[in-house]
Amino acid sequence: FTVSSQTVSASCPSNIALIKYWGKFDNQIPANPSISYTLNHCKTNTSVEFLADESFSVQTFLAGNEEKKFAEKIEKYFRNIEEYLPWILKGKYIIKTENTFPHSSGIASSASGFGAIAKCLMELDGIFSGITDEDSKLKKASFLARLGSGSACRSLYNGLIVWGETKEVAGSSDLFAVPYPNEEIHSMFKKFNDWVLLIHEGEKSVSSTVGHGLMKTNPYAERRFQEAHENFTTLKEILKTGDMRRFIKLVEHEALTLHAMMMMSDPAFILMKTGTLEVINKIWEFRKATGLDLFFTLDAGANVHLLFPEDSSSETIKSFIVKELLQHTQNGGVVKDEMRF
Ligand code: PMV
Repeated sequence: FTVSSQTVSASCPSNIALIKYWGKFDNQIPANPSISYTLNHCKTNTSVEFLADESFSVQTFLAGNEEKKFAEKIEKYFRNIEEYLPWILKGKYIIKTENTFPHSSGIASSASGFGAIAKCLMELDGIFSGITDEDSKLKKASFLARLGSGSACRSLYNGLIVWGETKEVAGSSDLFAVPYPNEEIHSMFKKFNDWVLLIHEGEKSVSSTVGHGLMKTNPYAERRFQEAHENFTTLKEILKTGDMRRFIKLVEHEALTLHAMMMMSDPAFILMKTGTLEVINKIWEFRKATGLDLFFTLDAGANVHLLFPEDSSSETIKSFIVKELLQHTQNGGVVKDEMRF
């Protein structure tokens, strides 16, 4: 390969896990398989200017502002992946990135961010190596994104995406993500709303890196990893048959298990806020009273992802959210996204 100065750009969405990844081994190997929905609107747009005649360094700009800490992180990441991209340290990088969603919203910007950078790197690799096969570029982008942030590897594809080896999905791997077979997904699960209530917009008190690490000494970890496998088996059946009630039960159980693991870590930590619990209780009451399919999932933070199908019930659900749930957000903040595939 011959390197030359180039500018490439890419866009990558965030994702929200249904079966959660929490706990990992060395080299970003997940302790259990996970599955997520890729979002349609919350994205990171990134451009990478590669200057071949200069020595290795990284400069990053987030929404126009220079971010030195992020640059250090990327520099370390690039050194880490030299084994897989031998040209990567042979130039200077100017990386400009912006999110289409609020920075402090707790929507996984590391997933969309590393996804977008990995796509840019594979664009450069294609130019330098002459390899243009899109499928293998995407697979390698997922592999590289994983090394930046585990959950990022699931953002490279649209729809329902699996990361981590499971007997339930042929071709699944700990090293990169694969799309869940489309023909095994009931049409009911291909059109969903995800409204993210911004309960708390500040920095998280415990990073996900630290959280994953604490699973090493969590007395419930082994049982949790085993349960994630069991939940995959159950979910596979649900996705095929279109059993919404069981889907809701499983997705909410996974969200609460993630936070239960945090509470049972040593030291313990809690990322939910009062508003998170108030919203969850109101969702349960609403479901009991109306029978409508509004449910939630959580990421490693206080914000609540409100999931509901796009059908004749969605207008009633939307007005309930506006009337009853928005008041629990910090500044009336809600990010309206959806999954369509
Ligand atoms: O990708 P990381 O290391 O930031 O881990 C995030 C894990 C969760 O978002 C909490 C769950 C998941 O599977 O996305």
